Amino acid sequence: MKNLTLIVSFLLTFCFFESQAQTISITTDKTALILKVGEKKKLFQDYFGKKVPDMTNNAPQQHEAYITAGTDNLLEPAIRIIHTDGNPSLDLNYISHSVVKKNENVTLTTIILKDPAYPVEVDLYYESFFKENIIKTWTKINNNEKGVIQLGNYASSMLHFDAADYWLTQFHGDWAKEMKMEESRLTHGIKILDSKLGARPNLFQPPFFTLSLNGPADENRGEVIQGTLAWTGNFQFAFEIDQFNSLRVISGINPYASTYQLGVGKSFDTPEFIFTYSDNGTGEASRNFHDWATKYGILDGTQPRLTLLNNWESTGFDFNEARLSKVLDEAKTLGVDMFLLDDGWFGNKYPRKDDKAGLGDWQVNKKKLPSGLSHLAREGKDKGLKFGIWIEPEMVNPKSELYEKHPDWILKLPNREENYFRNQLVLDLLNPEVQNFVYNVVDKLLSDNPDLAYIKWDCNRMMTNTYSPYLKNNQSNLYVDYTRSFYSVLERIRQKYPHLPMMLCSGGGGRTDYGGLKYFTEFWPSDDTDGIERLFIQWGYSYFFPSFAMANHVTSWGKESLKFRTDVAMMGKLGYDINVSQMPADELHFSQQSVQTYKSLESVIWHGDMYHLVSPYKENLAVLQYVSKAQDKAVLFSYTLHTRYGSEFAPVKLKGLDPKSSYKVEETNLFPGTTSSFHENGQSFSGAYLMDMGLHVSSGKELSSAVITITRVQ
Ligand code: DGJ
Repeated sequence: MKNLTLIVSFLLTFCFFESQAQTISITTDKTALILKVGEKKKLFQDYFGKKVPDMTNNAPQQHEAYITAGTDNLLEPAIRIIHTDGNPSLDLNYISHSVVKKNENVTLTTIILKDPAYPVEVDLYYESFFKENIIKTWTKINNNEKGVIQLGNYASSMLHFDAADYWLTQFHGDWAKEMKMEESRLTHGIKILDSKLGARPNLFQPPFFTLSLNGPADENRGEVIQGTLAWTGNFQFAFEIDQFNSLRVISGINPYASTYQLGVGKSFDTPEFIFTYSDNGTGEASRNFHDWATKYGILDGTQPRLTLLNNWESTGFDFNEARLSKVLDEAKTLGVDMFLLDDGWFGNKYPRKDDKAGLGDWQVNKKKLPSGLSHLAREGKDKGLKFGIWIEPEMVNPKSELYEKHPDWILKLPNREENYFRNQLVLDLLNPEVQNFVYNVVDKLLSDNPDLAYIKWDCNRMMTNTYSPYLKNNQSNLYVDYTRSFYSVLERIRQKYPHLPMMLCSGGGGRTDYGGLKYFTEFWPSDDTDGIERLFIQWGYSYFFPSFAMANHVTSWGKESLKFRTDVAMMGKLGYDINVSQMPADELHFSQQSVQTYKSLESVIWHGDMYHLVSPYKENLAVLQYVSKAQDKAVLFSYTLHTRYGSEFAPVKLKGLDPKSSYKVEETNLFPGTTSSFHENGQSFSGAYLMDMGLHVSSGKELSSAVITITRVQ
């Protein structure tokens, strides 16, 4: 009874249903998306942008909010359905909506639309995060017909814009070249960003975009929209400018080869499209993303992360107990929190001595590690280290016992040759037995080794020759259901191990999306750890992810100094993957100091407000600054790239400080035996001076870097 009273009072306080309402406002602190029920009960987008009085976009054209295919629409639709009787059209009328204030920051608006002639209901969800100015939107399609309906298109979101011109920043690349930024003006017609890789969204294109209205995107000025799809599978963003110069942006799962057969009485939930709007440029938009991700988007975003030493770059597959014992000593010497054992520790009949065999056989290799994993974990513990391990449980080498035992557990086309990538195939995760197998790989590892403190979950290939023996005649559901199966395994893992830190990795940065990061504490942005190249890669990701989510390792890639590479890795979650024993004494000393310096700065780097001060895309300099929320501490990273003949750079103006406070500026993380060439080193300035006049943060020397702390003194 008490519960009932509570529920009723909750509903009365926070939730109301308005079947007659004409205006639906989805708002955050600074943004508003206004929808209106108009003629013939159609739902229209009336306004999207800055929250101002009397919001309306005054566009001559009315834009239907979620446009259907098959009736009178002539451009790209948000949704396309074929009904059980073969009718290839959908008509959607507004039925009702509800607004539930989940707490003082989060509000969920649900709008119910229905086809007047067919029992198909489409629910639009908008979850708004007031303080962070983020909106999450997704759709549920309900099949109440008497048979299967076919979903041809099923977007998570449709947004409309009316501006003079539109500029799209897209991200692209390849292995070891992730997140390159490219901006262009959108022209009339349609532009598609997408991926068709199945098990991973990214190899060539990651699921992010920035749209700028009325001119190219700027860090501090102008109207921008940043968006991403929370989906570890095929995505599509479509940008279409029509004959009236209006732009529609449609975001969702890629409909490519994925006409979804939706059974009787079943519902289809699309993944969340997460977006933010800012009229103060990409800087504010990216900070919106960081704040939201810390609280809501990434598992345990407010919790500490572990520094580590990984053995992949130093040993590859070639290790044994003695060698790993040395790596444990190296980790201890370095002063990091954990040792992470990478690929190569498993497989007996087909030992994992290279990438050609053993994948799928998750038993410890008795020759390499006769005393088992728990021995290593114990040895680590004795040295004050945590122990983490690499797995790739969705994949199989043809040379494995798993392949021999379960040839029917593999995605591959009948009547065609197997198609390998890194000598491996993808398991048929659609099959519940395979889901159990993958779950058990993790569960057994953790049950057998209770001291295991971390997992790096890899996925080294995309899907090709894609066919699921389990799905039989329903192959067009494969791409969607693979990703859902992946999530359902992770859901089970998280029920049992809710807070185990896990890194989402995919042969470099193949899985960098908020769908996966609900279950993971961090991701691996790229295999490329060359200082300069990594700087650009991290720069791209920094528009969407907070720094603590990016696992950055110092390795021996690249020709830059260890100092430069370390300074780059520090702008994220610091780790090492390098042969520590081979470091000269000064490099070791420097690295030990860097770990400690990092620990003293990590809270500002992870949770401070981030400002892109100088972009390496525009100058031969990259400068990035993090400011604590209390404005009492800031850290600035400056990297001088390929300069010529002693270039001089103008002072760089800082951001986000309290103009009235006084701050001491000091260079830190200096290499032993060197002195600071930072012009203002050790001096104190007002926040106003630092933001209006700036600091000479570059030495002008090619491939040099500096870490500068800015500490409030009064
Ligand atoms: C690809 C990852 O990105 C690397 O860090 C490493 O774990 C290898 N796989 C191991 O096979």
